[in-house]
This record gives sequence, structure tokens and C-alpha cells, in this order.
Amino acid sequence: MPGPIICTTNTVDYSTIRQSLARGSRTKEDLKNDVNVCLECEGCHEKLDRMLTIVCTCFNVTFDQVREAIAKGADTEYKIGQATNAGTDCGRCRSILASILEKGH
Ligand code: FES
Repeated sequence: MPGPIICTTNTVDYSTIRQSLARGSRTKEDLKNDVNVCLECEGCHEKLDRMLTIVCTCFNVTFDQVREAIAKGADTEYKIGQATNAGTDCGRCRSILASILEKGH
């Protein structure tokens, strides 16, 4: 299921952007290069910052909170979940958590 359209100019949906985050995209430029978001339309202006900030939408856990948990020794998705709750409900953020662990950012 693709999810709602975020970039209305280039028709890039929510799931496509989340998959890009799971491949390691962390900035708007990364997303532009990987999935062709335009960075100019209303959807890009209103929604990309939040998508690049919140990794786990079930618990509103940020990328920074996950990085902090990793810095304090959470070296598995399970331990990140124990420290932040990220990944412990629907599980749809787990591929992004794995990416943060793998890439170190
Ligand atoms: S989005 Fe992280 S558990 Fe649902």
C-alpha cells in the first residue's frame, strides 16, 4: 500500500519516502536524489521535515533519540525498543532502525 502522496509535483508517496529512509536517506537532498521529491511543493514543505525527524510514528520517537540510545549502548533493534519504545508497536519503523544501526547515523 503506497500511502498518501507527500510530493504532489512528482507523485512520491509516504511509503516510498519511508523506504528511502530505510536505505539510509537522512536529508531532503538524500530524498531528492533517491526518490525524486521536488522539495518545492506544499507537501514537501509541510511534511518532509517531520518525516526526517520522527522515525517511529507510533511513539513519536525521533532519529536523534534513537542515535542517543545507540550512543548509550543500544546495539540491537530490541535494545533501541527498550530504551525508546521505537519499533515496539506496529513495527513499521524497524527497517529504518536497522538502517540507523547499520549505517551509524
Ligand atoms: S512506527 Fe514504530 S512501532 Fe509503529
